[in-house]
Amino acid sequence: MISLNIEKTFGFISKENVFAYEAQVKAAQEALENGTGKGNDFLGWLHLPSSITQEHLADLKATAQTLRENCEVVVVAGIGGSYLGARAVIEALSNSFTWLQEKKTAPVILYAGHNIGEDYLYELTEYLKDKKFGVINISKSGTTTETALAFRLLKKQCENQRGKEVAKKVIVAITDAKKGAARVTADNEGYKSFIIPDNVGGRFSVLTPVGLLPIAVAGFDIEKLVAGAVVMEKACGKDVSFAENPAAIYAATRNELYKNGKKIEILVNFNPKLHYVSEWWKQLYGESEGKENKGIFPAAVDFSTDLHSMGQWIQEGERTIYETVISVENTQHKLQVPVDEANLDGLNFLAGKRVDEVNKMAELGTQLAHVDGGVPNMRIVIPALNEESIGSLLYFFEIACGISGYLLGVNPFNQPGVEAYKKNMFALLNKPGYEEESKAIQARL
Ligand code: PA5
Repeated sequence: MISLNIEKTFGFISKENVFAYEAQVKAAQEALENGTGKGNDFLGWLHLPSSITQEHLADLKATAQTLRENCEVVVVAGIGGSYLGARAVIEALSNSFTWLQEKKTAPVILYAGHNIGEDYLYELTEYLKDKKFGVINISKSGTTTETALAFRLLKKQCENQRGKEVAKKVIVAITDAKKGAARVTADNEGYKSFIIPDNVGGRFSVLTPVGLLPIAVAGFDIEKLVAGAVVMEKACGKDVSFAENPAAIYAATRNELYKNGKKIEILVNFNPKLHYVSEWWKQLYGESEGKENKGIFPAAVDFSTDLHSMGQWIQEGERTIYETVISVENTQHKLQVPVDEANLDGLNFLAGKRVDEVNKMAELGTQLAHVDGGVPNMRIVIPALNEESIGSLLYFFEIACGISGYLLGVNPFNQPGVEAYKKNMFALLNKPGYEEESKAIQARL
């Protein structure tokens, strides 16, 4: 389904040195398979695609149908791993403009609980005032402040606008089986709920109901998405040879680049629909690898848009970067550049060409320029923006992340650093239980 080309990193690092990772990669794969590595209580994602049952998908689809039938808008409340996967897939597969059209075939999907912007939440609640809306409340811990705060507002508004009975039908919870406030609320109110498995961390949860339910509500085929992931589960399995396994090669190459001073990986796309795939990827790699004072910094750009902003830095700035380009082989639609008799804009040299041909030449020209400028370049090619390809891509990045984190020597499945800001915020807001921290923090101000 997807292919990886690392040719354009040679010259900066050698093929021999990448292939020298073979034994380490094998060890990492075995640690993942046997559950003997760091963070081994969070490996439920590893064989998740092939273990998803038809019954589970049917349950998700039936719930999605209820929301589709009863809502003009569905708000996905969640943050980090509890929203980025769904948004990545939905935006990659959606028509860029249908949400603006009068007649819609699926509810508009909006997002909340991923920031604490008062204006954002005010404007969202204003927008929802005359809408039949529902909410998917997603939080594994069930206690995340950003999400809980947004959900409190949305729940009240939904009940006020639609009545308690309808609200019960159009609010769905996705959370832990037993723990957390989101579970307590769901059980008390009688919401339909789905469980996030204990052994699947947030950023690896896109193929659990966390991602699958919103994606199904948006009208996309979750069976095909999962099927795409299953293909990659096989293609990146531990019995596939190092040379044939794209996840192994990607993990080894990025670690070798890092060892050679390339501290920043820039994920590049030439299709604006992939913006949130990059956001999802940033979280996956940032939270998994950035610890113990090490880790590649994951950055992302949308080209050609950002060639007119970050392009200068990439071409001539500090040489600590490399690029990984996601290239989409085929577009969904065809559009040709028209001929213009007067040719006032001088574009007749493009007349008759597909817009995508121009885009592909921008892609090739950029790769050559950046490699000339000292930026190693990897290329991931996916056939098209469809459910199968995206499912494959997501699983590819997950398995490569697990291997890469082990190569780096960290626990890719925890995120202890995320707690620091929360502790200070709770102390500053005088949250019960944080009395000591409140006193200590006041003394620092
Ligand atoms: O990957 C992770 O574990 C995090 O990014 C979480 O997904 C994020 O913090 C949200 O947590 P929760 O689902 O508990 O609200």
